[in-house]
Amino acid sequence: MKIITTNYIYTPKGFISNKAIAFTDTIQDIDNVDSLKIKYPEAKIIATNPNTVLYPGFINTHVHLEFSTNKTSLKYGSFMPWLDSVIEHREDLVGSCNNDIMMQECQAMMRSGVTTFGAISSFGNELEVCEKTPQRVIFFNELIGSNAQYADMLYGDFMERVKASMSCDKSSRIIPAVAIHSPYSVHPIILQKAVNVAKEHKLPLSAHFLESQAEREWLEDGKGEFKSFFKKFFNTQTPVTNIKEFMYAFDTYPTHFTHAVQATQEELEYLAKKGHSIAHCPRSNRYLGCGRLDIEDLKLPFTIATDGLSSNDSLSILDELRAGLMMHHQIPIEPLASKFIDSITSTPADILGLNSGRIEVGKLADFTIIELPEIPKREDEIALWSILHTKEVSALFINGKQEV
Ligand code: BEZ
Ligand code: FE2
Repeated sequence: MKIITTNYIYTPKGFISNKAIAFTDTIQDIDNVDSLKIKYPEAKIIATNPNTVLYPGFINTHVHLEFSTNKTSLKYGSFMPWLDSVIEHREDLVGSCNNDIMMQECQAMMRSGVTTFGAISSFGNELEVCEKTPQRVIFFNELIGSNAQYADMLYGDFMERVKASMSCDKSSRIIPAVAIHSPYSVHPIILQKAVNVAKEHKLPLSAHFLESQAEREWLEDGKGEFKSFFKKFFNTQTPVTNIKEFMYAFDTYPTHFTHAVQATQEELEYLAKKGHSIAHCPRSNRYLGCGRLDIEDLKLPFTIATDGLSSNDSLSILDELRAGLMMHHQIPIEPLASKFIDSITSTPADILGLNSGRIEVGKLADFTIIELPEIPKREDEIALWSILHTKEVSALFINGKQEV
């Protein structure tokens, strides 16, 4: 048993002060430190610096580790030139991305407070690193392939990767999952098979959806910048699905849709009705010229995520929240900061079925501890000050063990 005490603890009831947590690999008790010391006389006491705030470990729902070597290879500014540059540089980028580089990025995520992340995996290359990192990893095996001719082969490869992630040792904290690349890049037949696999095994499911205006134009009218892209790289002229057909494929299983920047209010309402949710990646959307997701009007839960270094400059979830505060300048900053904290703790835990994301007895002992430069003058601003003042966290616990 260990006991940790900080100035503030973020709980489902808000920030509480002068309390401590007794924990093993899960949270056992929350009370005054003196009471806990009497109840658990053998417990190891963990001292923290003044002005510290303890949060549930942060969750970054959407990362592509395989593209961690990108710095200046991919073209930013507009979606289609970016996608062209991905096709051009994919082999080099993925080929130069070794385990050491990916592990450094897992550690960078930990220094930003991330105890759990969703790894979108196209090839399965990052499985070893995801097994080694102490973090919990929702390992999203991605299905891609719009060409019916190759669909069976690609589906077979996808299933091999799903099985590999399902047979990881429990100690690796890998949570097997399924990702559909996008409406434009996955044939509807294998898409439905993959959704059924997720449903059958109760695996978390995610899909990129309506990221760019070009995607919308292609799916609606078979026109726009995707037309020449498909002609050039796939020798095809027509989309394999449309927006409605794609959405309907997920009707019976709640899915975490990434981006949805170009979805209409009607489409978002449909997704909400079916119990789906959104992963919102502010910097990725800005860097690829995709627009702003109107989070103020969203009727469905959303998480904030970094996406990969293929469309970002860091995997720090705190950098992402700061960017989100700037991007959504219309929304009052204080409630937005509080909502953002929930978007990387309780909201993703609920969406992905994790027993973390809240400081409550029985939850996993995943903690992120940050240190403010001084004691907050007003309690309702703690979330904001935490986001603005924290470049790196002061400590991080996963499964009750200190990792930072
Ligand atoms: C495809 O397999 O159809 C595809 C792959 C990557 C980008 C776009 C389409
Ligand atoms: Fe992505």
